[in-house]
Amino acid sequence: MKIRVDSVSIVGLGYVGMCTAATFASRGIRTIGIDIDEKRVEQIRKGEAPLHEPQLDPMLKKAVKEKLLDATNDISKAADTDTTFLAVGTPSQNDGSIDLSYIENAAKDLGNVLRETRGYHLVVVKSTVVPGTTNGTVKRFLEQSSGKTVGSEIGLCANPEFLKEGTAIHDALHPDKIVIGSDDKKSANQLTRLYRKFYGSKLPPVILASPEAAELVKYASNAFLATKISFINTIANIAQQTPGVDVGTVARAIGLDPRIGELFLKAGPGYGGSCFHKDLQALINYSEKNGYNPVLFRATEETNEKQATRVVDMAEKLLGSLSGKKVAVLGLAFKKDTDDIREAASIRVINELEKKGAQVVAYDPMAIPNTKKQIADLIDYAEDAHSALKGADCAIIMTEWDHLRKLKAKEFRAYMKTPNIVDARRVYDPDTFNDLNYVAIGVGPRRA
Ligand code: UGA
Repeated sequence: MKIRVDSVSIVGLGYVGMCTAATFASRGIRTIGIDIDEKRVEQIRKGEAPLHEPQLDPMLKKAVKEKLLDATNDISKAADTDTTFLAVGTPSQNDGSIDLSYIENAAKDLGNVLRETRGYHLVVVKSTVVPGTTNGTVKRFLEQSSGKTVGSEIGLCANPEFLKEGTAIHDALHPDKIVIGSDDKKSANQLTRLYRKFYGSKLPPVILASPEAAELVKYASNAFLATKISFINTIANIAQQTPGVDVGTVARAIGLDPRIGELFLKAGPGYGGSCFHKDLQALINYSEKNGYNPVLFRATEETNEKQATRVVDMAEKLLGSLSGKKVAVLGLAFKKDTDDIREAASIRVINELEKKGAQVVAYDPMAIPNTKKQIADLIDYAEDAHSALKGADCAIIMTEWDHLRKLKAKEFRAYMKTPNIVDARRVYDPDTFNDLNYVAIGVGPRRA
């Protein structure tokens, strides 16, 4: 029997699901996006991106116009496709483990749909899940609600994603690898075929693995990247105590060693975003439950948490006391070009500043609405960088936005009450800021 591979459905139109759906459709693969959020579904059907991501909006508009992408809240529409990706969220619980309720519900609802269908249907777990989830929870829910057997009537793969916010569409179109975890050849073959159709002659290396190994690849990847950042932040903190040293020089030099590599060696206020902290906590929890304490990853997280305190300590050292002082926080997003503040270092820094009695005024070109949702009017907000700096005793650069990078020393001097600057993102050249009270993460004191 010929396996059809030209239509897919994606359950969960969050960040990963949405970008995956849009890129599949952009390659001529008929795609149905499924989500319980009716407002989101309506938006997508109108061709409007429900989240901010470069390139997503035009891609989505085109796909909807060409009828290659449709959205619905009716999961039974998955039956019209050959393959269903589960891309629902797996949020953190208090003990660090992941909440599988969305994935359980999705597998159960999909199983109910598949009970009525004839023919083979492939289910692909794209959500980030700890090893054993695809073969355990997902398989069990699918089989129970469909009355069918996984492996023969229903195919099942784990297929993690490695998209970065801000470059997600580019990453989806040009991945460095595809990881397919499956226990049966038929499932793996169908998914490989789908990706062959997607990428044509540019198919990246396909790593075939067990579902558990594929699931662990995702955690290992994020744990390594997070550890690399905590590593360089540790070196930065050592460099900062050492006259004549800038961690940037150290990072450039060590990065030239191909065993180390130059990427993810930017020292800063600590990593943020929806993945690194959540995934490390989940990996630590998973490992502990299996009787192994992964001390390295605990240190990665602790180093990250403490980095925010270091930023505030730097401000306190410049000002003496922070009590009653006006501190301008420039940048709230966890990295530039996004409105996302989940686990952002800026929030950790703001909380510390508040504890020390500072009056915080924050500016960000995109992330203020999301920040207001999280911390409301705990702080003041400014419409632009200059307004934030007006009358400030100290400025802290928290996100590496391009236009913040372009601010000149004379602008800080003109607007601020006293030009104390903590450059937590190392965006300025210390030499051009040397007549201000300027300190940066990873830059040691000037030699006397
Ligand atoms: C991360 C991974 O990079 C993706 O491969 C993965 O797919 C994704 O998580 C996920 O699991 O969904 P993302 O969270 O979008 O992607 O953002 P990154 O670009 O990795 O940045 C994470 C944080 O690390 C940011 O706060 C960033 O400022 C910080 N960072 C990054 C540094 O402090 N230094 C660096 O050198 C690089």
